Amino acid sequence: MIRHATIEKNSLLMLVLVLIVVSIGGIVEIAPLFYLESTIEKVKGMRPYTPLELKGRDIYIREGCYNCHSQMIRPLRDENERYGHYSLAAESMYDHPFQWGSKRTGPDLARVGKRYSDDWHVLHLTNPRAVVPESVMPGYPFLAKTPLKYDDIEKRLRTLAMEGVPYTPDMIKNAKRDLLAQLDPDSDDADALIESYGDNVQLRNFDRQPGAPTELDALIAYLQMLGTLVDFSQYDEKANQR
Ligand code: HEC
Repeated sequence: MIRHATIEKNSLLMLVLVLIVVSIGGIVEIAPLFYLESTIEKVKGMRPYTPLELKGRDIYIREGCYNCHSQMIRPLRDENERYGHYSLAAESMYDHPFQWGSKRTGPDLARVGKRYSDDWHVLHLTNPRAVVPESVMPGYPFLAKTPLKYDDIEKRLRTLAMEGVPYTPDMIKNAKRDLLAQLDPDSDDADALIESYGDNVQLRNFDRQPGAPTELDALIAYLQMLGTLVDFSQYDEKANQR
C-alpha cells in the first residue's frame, strides 16, 4: 500500500510503469500476427476482379458511390435478413482501397449482384426515379454515352499485383483481350477469360446497347459481380451440422 502511494505521487515513475504494462499488452496482441501466414481465412470462389470489373470499380470510386453506399454487411440479424450473409474478411481481400463505407444514404451493395437485371441497372443508373419513384439517388446518364477508356488496364493490374493481388503475368498481358471478351460471350477469347478467372465470371453485353464498351458496361459488370463470388453453400452446410 505504501509503495503504491509512492508511485501515485511520482508522475514520472507512474508514466514509465504504465508504458511497461501497456507494451506487454501490446506485444501479446500484435506479435502473433507476424507469425500467422494470413489473418484472412481463405474462402472458395474468391478471385481477383476481371479487368472489366476493375474498370467498373474505378468508376464506382470516381463517382463517389461510396458516399451513399456501404459494402459491408454487419453480423446483425436485421442486416442479414435484408442483405444476406454477413460480409467475410476474404470478400474484400483484393480491394485496394476497401469500399466498406461509413454511411448508408442508400442500401448496402455488398450483395447486390444478380439481384436486378441489367436492364434495371441501365434504367436506374440513368435516372433512378424511373424505377424507384421516391429515390434521392442522382442519375448518371453520361455513363451510357462515355466510351470506356482502358489503355491503362495492364498498368492497373500490375499495380494491384504489387500490392499482393494474385494477377499472373499472363493475366496482365491479356488484360485488354479479357476486358473485351467479357462483353462478348461468343468471342473466341471467352474461354480463355473463364480459364484465367474461373466460371463465376458473368459474360454479356451489360449496357444493353451495341457498339464499343461504355463506362456503363464496366459499372454494371462490377455491380452484378458484388457478393456473387463466394460459394456460401459450404458455410450453410456447417451451420446445418450444428
Ligand atoms: C446521394 C446518395 C447516393 C449516391 C451518390 C448514389 N446512390 Fe445509389 N442509391 C441511393 C439511394 C437513396 C438508393 C435507394 C433508392 C433507389 O433504389 O434508387 C440507392 C439505390 C442504389 C441501388 C439499388 C440497391 C438495392 O439493393 O436496391 C444501386 C445498385 C445503386 N444505388 C448504385 C449506385 C451507384 C453505382 C452509384 C454511383 C455511380 C450510386 N448508387 C450513387 C443513394 C445514392
